[in-house]
Amino acid sequence: MTNYDNWAEIYDEIYSEYKDDLHFYQNISSDSESILEIGCGTGRISIPLAQSGKKVHGIDISPKMIEIAQTKTNNTLTNLSFQVMDMRELNFKQQFDTILIPFNGFQSLLNVSDQIKCLKNIRKLCHKKTKIIFDVFFPDKEIFEQKSSNFYLVSQKTQKSLEVWHKTNFDFFNQLLHTDLRVIQFLDTQNPKVSYKSFSLRYCYPQELIYLFEISELQIVNMYSDFNKTLDATNQLVIEAQII
Ligand SMILES: C[S@@+](CC[C@H](N)C(=O)[O-])C[C@H]1O[C@@H](n2cnc3c(N)ncnc32)[C@H](O)[C@@H]1O
Repeated sequence: MTNYDNWAEIYDEIYSEYKDDLHFYQNISSDSESILEIGCGTGRISIPLAQSGKKVHGIDISPKMIEIAQTKTNNTLTNLSFQVMDMRELNFKQQFDTILIPFNGFQSLLNVSDQIKCLKNIRKLCHKKTKIIFDVFFPDKEIFEQKSSNFYLVSQKTQKSLEVWHKTNFDFFNQLLHTDLRVIQFLDTQNPKVSYKSFSLRYCYPQELIYLFEISELQIVNMYSDFNKTLDATNQLVIEAQII
């Protein structure tokens, strides 16, 4: 399993500017009072949701991610709380109006039994109208054709202050990808700082997700391929589900 504490130190540097999904998650939870964000990381989604007045609880397996999220708000938002918790072992007495797993978080679970365990635990936190929302991706032809020995540039921040390169190995049978990242920070032009991280994710296909939810007594009510709710053939899935 990926060491997410190791990721926490550089997470915001790489991903804090990613905003494609924020508007969608804000809209979809607009009529909710209580929101649980699973795999909340450093609060990229939880914090703006709480700033708009929602009662938000974020959980994450990584103590370091939670520490950074807490530091960012410095306990100034009374409607926002964070907690270290594993999404396979969700344990709450209350139910939530909306349960989110943004930014591929569900894909941190690397086998089907963990995925079902998580979904069944989510079900226990739902009332009849709870919305379960998350997004995942599956690799497209272009990614599958990449050489596992090469790094490929995946993002470049404005003003060239940061480059992120990926080198990926696939385990096709188990639908796993193991990615090494090379992150180059151009703090000063003479001596860029280079660091390496790695992560593993399990990718799922649409029909497989429908079954996974059904087995967990949940049903997918909408599936989109982007945050504008279109259904073009892309390698992203945005899922809205509820209890059966
Ligand atoms: C890609 S990050 C997404 C963070 C945040 N939701 C966002 O959108 O920026 C995935 C997060 O899931 C967390 N995570 C991974 N496995 C987990 C698990 N079993 N239980 C809870 N959180 C987990 C990681 O620590 C990481 O913070």
